[in-house]
Amino acid sequence: MTDGFSSFLSRANWLKHERCIMEIDRDTAVSLLKIYNQNPFHLRHAWTVEGVMRYFAKENGYAEEEEFWGIVGLLHDIDFEKFPEEHCKKAPELLAEVAASERLVHAVCSHGWNLTVDVKPEHFMEKVLYATDELTGLIWACSLVLPSKSVKDLQVKSIRKKFRNEQFAAGCSRKVMEEGAALLGWTLDELFEKTLAAMQATADSVEALSNG
Ligand SMILES: [Fe+2]
Ligand SMILES: [Fe+2]
Repeated sequence: MTDGFSSFLSRANWLKHERCIMEIDRDTAVSLLKIYNQNPFHLRHAWTVEGVMRYFAKENGYAEEEEFWGIVGLLHDIDFEKFPEEHCKKAPELLAEVAASERLVHAVCSHGWNLTVDVKPEHFMEKVLYATDELTGLIWACSLVLPSKSVKDLQVKSIRKKFRNEQFAAGCSRKVMEEGAALLGWTLDELFEKTLAAMQATADSVEALSNG
C-alpha cells in the first residue's frame, strides 16, 4: 500500500468517524423541517417540543447537549405531515438527507415505540421526548379554553382534570403519557408539573417562532 493511498484511507476513516459523531446544526434542522412541514399546527408543535426538550436538558444536567435535545424535538415528527401512514418509519430516510447521526435517528424513531415502530426509548432524553410529546398537545388544548389562551395562566389541577376526561383532546394519548412517566420513574403529577413549567418558560419563544 502506498503512503498516499494509506493516508487517503485514514482520512476517509476519519471523515466517516466525524460524520458519525458530528451533529447537524439547528439551521440545517429547521431547513429540513420546513421542507416536509408546512402546516402551522405541525410547525408550532415542532417549536413547542424543541423548547420543552431544551428546557429539560438544562434542568437535568445536560446543558452541553441542549442544542442536540432541541434538534431532536424539532425533527421528531419530520415524516408525519407527508407520510402519516409511515410515521417514524420514513424518518430515517428523510434524516439521511442531512446525514443525521445514528443517535439522532434513534431518538426520533423511539417516540413511535409500541405505536408504529419497536424502537424503545433508551436514553433519558428519549424517555423525556416520549413522555412529553403527547402531553404538550393536551397542555396546549387546556390553555386554549382559558380566557387568556395562555399556557402561562394554566394550573396543574386543570391538566389533571382534563387528563381524566378522555373526550377532551382525545387525540392526545393518555396511555403514552402514563407509559412515559413510568419510563422516567416519575408520577403523572410530576410529569404534568415539569412539562407545564417547560412550556411556560418557553411560551414566548414558541409564539415568536410560530408568528415568524
Ligand atoms: Fe409523532
Ligand atoms: Fe409529536
